[in-house]
Parts: sequence; C-alpha cells; structure tokens
Amino acid sequence: MGIAQKESWGTRVGLILAMAGNAVGLGNFLRFPVQAVNNGGGAFIIPYLVCFLLMGIPLLWIEWSMGRFGGKRGNHSTPYILDTMHRSNFWKYFGVFGIFTNIGVAAYYCYIESWTMSYVFHSVAGTFRGLTQGEVADFFVKYVDIGSSTTGIPFEAVVFYILCLALNTFILSRGLKGVERAAKVGMPLLILFGVFLAVRGLTLGTSGASAEVPGASAWDGLNFLWTPQFSSLSDPRVWFAAAGQIFFTLSVGMGTIHCYAAYVRSKDDIALNAVSAGFMNEFVEVVLGSSIVIPIAAGYLGLDWVKENAGFGMAFQTMPFLFEKWGPLLATFAGVMWFGLLFFAGITSSLAMGTPWMGFMRDEFGWSRNKGALSFGLFVLVLGLPTVLFFQQGVFDEYDYWAGTVSLVVFAMAEVILFSWIFGMDKGWREINDGADLRVPRIYRFIIRYITPVMLILVFLGSLLTPEGNNWSAAFASLFSGEGWPLDNGSIVRQIANTGLHERIAQATEAADIKALKDRLFYTNLARTLLTLSFLFIAVLVYLSGVRRLKAQSKPA
Ligand code: ALA
Repeated sequence: MGIAQKESWGTRVGLILAMAGNAVGLGNFLRFPVQAVNNGGGAFIIPYLVCFLLMGIPLLWIEWSMGRFGGKRGNHSTPYILDTMHRSNFWKYFGVFGIFTNIGVAAYYCYIESWTMSYVFHSVAGTFRGLTQGEVADFFVKYVDIGSSTTGIPFEAVVFYILCLALNTFILSRGLKGVERAAKVGMPLLILFGVFLAVRGLTLGTSGASAEVPGASAWDGLNFLWTPQFSSLSDPRVWFAAAGQIFFTLSVGMGTIHCYAAYVRSKDDIALNAVSAGFMNEFVEVVLGSSIVIPIAAGYLGLDWVKENAGFGMAFQTMPFLFEKWGPLLATFAGVMWFGLLFFAGITSSLAMGTPWMGFMRDEFGWSRNKGALSFGLFVLVLGLPTVLFFQQGVFDEYDYWAGTVSLVVFAMAEVILFSWIFGMDKGWREINDGADLRVPRIYRFIIRYITPVMLILVFLGSLLTPEGNNWSAAFASLFSGEGWPLDNGSIVRQIANTGLHERIAQATEAADIKALKDRLFYTNLARTLLTLSFLFIAVLVYLSGVRRLKAQSKPA
C-alpha cells in the first residue's frame, strides 16, 4: 500500500469541473472539427455518438471506479491501481502506460498550449492587423521554424513553451487545490468565450460572402456537419476515426481519470459525476467545437475551402485573419477569446497529465508536491524540447501517434478486460454503483462486459492491421483468395517498420528530397527512442517502488 495521502477534492463542483477540464481540451476545438470534416461531416457524427455511448461512457465508469477503488487503498496512479485489482507483475508494469502516456502527451500538448499563450499576446499586441491571409499563415510557419523566427521575440516558440511549462508546474505544486481553482476559473471562462464565438459563427449567415467567394455561407459549414449520412455506418475508416476522437477527447485510456478519481472520498458518488463530466465534454465538443472554426471559415472562405484546408493549422493560420474582418476592437477581443479559450481548454487538461506522476512519486517515494511538480515539469521539458526544436521534422507527429493515439487504445483495451473479466463484472458493477446518485441502466452491465471489450479489441486489431487504402472488403477478398492481407502504411505494423518512409526514400530522385526524407527518418527514430526510454525509466521506478514496498513490509511494526 502506498504512503497514505489525505488529499481529496474540496467540493463536488470542483471535482466535476476538474474532470470536465481534464476532458475538455484542445481536442474539442482543434481535433474534432478536423476529424469531422475529413470524415465526411454528417457521416462522422453517428459513429462518433455510438462510440461515445458504447465505449466512452463505459470507460468513464470503469476508470472512475478503478481510481476510487485504488485510492481507498492508498494508490493514486495506475501501476498500483491495476495491481490492487489483480495482484500480478504484469498489471503493475502495464500500469506504467498510465504515467508514461501523460508525460508523452504533455510533451507535445504543452507545445500547442504555448502557441495559444503566444497568440493571445499577439492578438492584444495587434500583430495580425493589416496582414493578408497568406501573411497570417506565414506567421505560424515562421513561429514553428525556430531558426527563422521573425516574430520579434528571439526563439519565441521555446520561450513560450518554457513559460507554459512553468505555469503548469506552479499550479501543480499547489496540489489538488491549485488544479481545482484553475478549473473553477478556466471552465466558466472557456464556456463564456466559446458561446460568444459560437453565436458569432451561427449568426454570420451569408454576410461573409465576398467578390472572391460569392457563395460563402456559414450555414453550409453547419449543414455539412449536421446532416447525418447513414452510408458512413459501413465505412470502417470513419469508425476508427470516431473511436480515436472519443478516446482523445474524453482522456480515457490515459490514466488521468484514474488518478483524479483516486482522490474522491470512498463513499462519494462516481456514477453521476462521471456522466456529468462526460456530457459536459460532449456539449463543449459537439455544440461549441463545431460552431466556431467551421462555420466562420465556411462563412468567409466557402465550404470547399474548408474541406480542402481542414487541418490543425486552420485555427492558428486562418482565424486571426478572419477576426480582423470584424474591426480592430472586436478582432482583438475575438483573438483573446479564441486563443484564451484554447489556452484554458489546454491547461486544464495538461494539469491533469501531471497528476499521475506526482501521485506515484508521492505514494511510493514520499515526494512533496513541490518536488513532484518540478520533476514533472523537467521531465516534460526534456522530452518536449525536441518537439519544439524539430517540429517540422516530425517529432511532434510521432509523439502524437504513439503516446496520443496508440497508447490510449492499448491501455483502454487492457483495462476493460481487467475490469470486466479479471476483476470480475460482479465486483465491478458493485464498485460503479457504490454510493451512486444515479441508477446506472442495467443494460450497461452487459455493454461493459461484452460490447465495450469487443469494440476495443476490434479498434486495436483494426489499427494494428489496417488494410491498404482502408479497404476492408478488398483485403478480405485478397486474404481468401490466398494473396495475403495487404497492409496499409498507416497500420501500426507498418508504422513500426517505417515502411512508408522507406518507400518514399526509395522512390525519391532529387538529392534534396532524399536528404529531407532521411532526416525525417532520423528524427522519427529519435522520437521513438526518447519515448521508449521514458517508458523504461518509469518502469524502473515501478520496480524500485516494489523493492521499497517489500522492505517496508518486512520491517517489524
Ligand atoms: N481530452 C483532452 C483533449 O481533448 C486531452 O484535448
């Protein structure tokens, strides 16, 4: 058992806001609209909602109850939460994912968070005033190109990254109280800013149409997102994208929910709290997240532009330019609100990513909050600096893929099996319902036991062995005709082997292209090495904690 920690959440509102803040993040505003547009708009929504109900909600209940279960026994991070549920080295070491994923994600996530800080600053400073669309887009390109930064602040990206980590570290050093306070301030402001911008997006109508884009209409953006297309139900690609979005947006499969829930008092409700935080996240994602970037961009630049340019950079490369159309005063406010809301969304999530590490070091090595927070900040700095310095060489994408995508699915799949089948559904169901202020529909007992694990196994296998071009029927036809399973370069198996990059290197003819691709290969491998070393480092700490626990047990009382 870990060293007893007396810390717990101050109020129920604080807990729900912190949990919702953990879930509501950059994913709601940057990732969701892009996923929705890239997967056919209305075609995406149904699989997304089904994944929410059949995987998201069950995983929330599972993780909340696992966390509270472990917390009652003095454990606040997944290695020993999992170990408490089924004593074995396998689960204890599997729990390393629940610390590692957070540090891996925080490393690149805080980088985006730092862009939002910087863009708030530039919105106030009026940096974007009078710039053309191309110049605003170029500003971002220069910002992330450390060597050529011409934004006026030397090494601006590094400076803001360090500032952002310092702020996270400071709040974390205040413990749960600090996290709770940040959520109590950040979440209401985020919603306020979001509602303002959404109203603007929803009332823009066709008023943004211009001579260059005569037919532009904000309504087109909304209609595209909200006209369901049932044909998508048979497209596995859309299902995988929807499942990935649900994991990321709810922060399930990460270890943060377990950690937060470990600080819930032992008799307090988790059933209603989990659903409240989950639905708050969905409100922010599907209502606010879809009512800002897409309609505003479609309103000025047309839906076709949005479809062609949907991407992560849209929020940074286009929005400041569009805000300028509202006049200097409103443009400044809109910039502060948009990047401010992104910042609050980001920081309430990155704070959550710090808590499993701090909980672990405190439980196992008796580290103070200050020491825990500082060491988290340093760990993230070391792991994260390469994402800042080598952003364009693909380090960022590599972290996002392994820590922010694959790890979540692997961990979620394993924990649902542990919960439903090894810990056992009878005990699991009792845990979910213990102290519940909500009658959990009985159908969920069946869903958690059968449907969620099967869906997660399918998502995992589908990602591991994604067939060429995501064409499943052609892949099965090829398999049955004896020609084998044609793998896509995006499948985990091929990603591990870097097949896509090797193929591109083999096909390239220009020396400069070959060099750029080889550089990319080098940085990809560097990113993987850093992630692997981080995982191993945490595993060694788990081993040392086991030795300490054994020693403590053998000491005479
Ligand atoms: N759940 C967090 C987000 O959506 C990580 O950004």
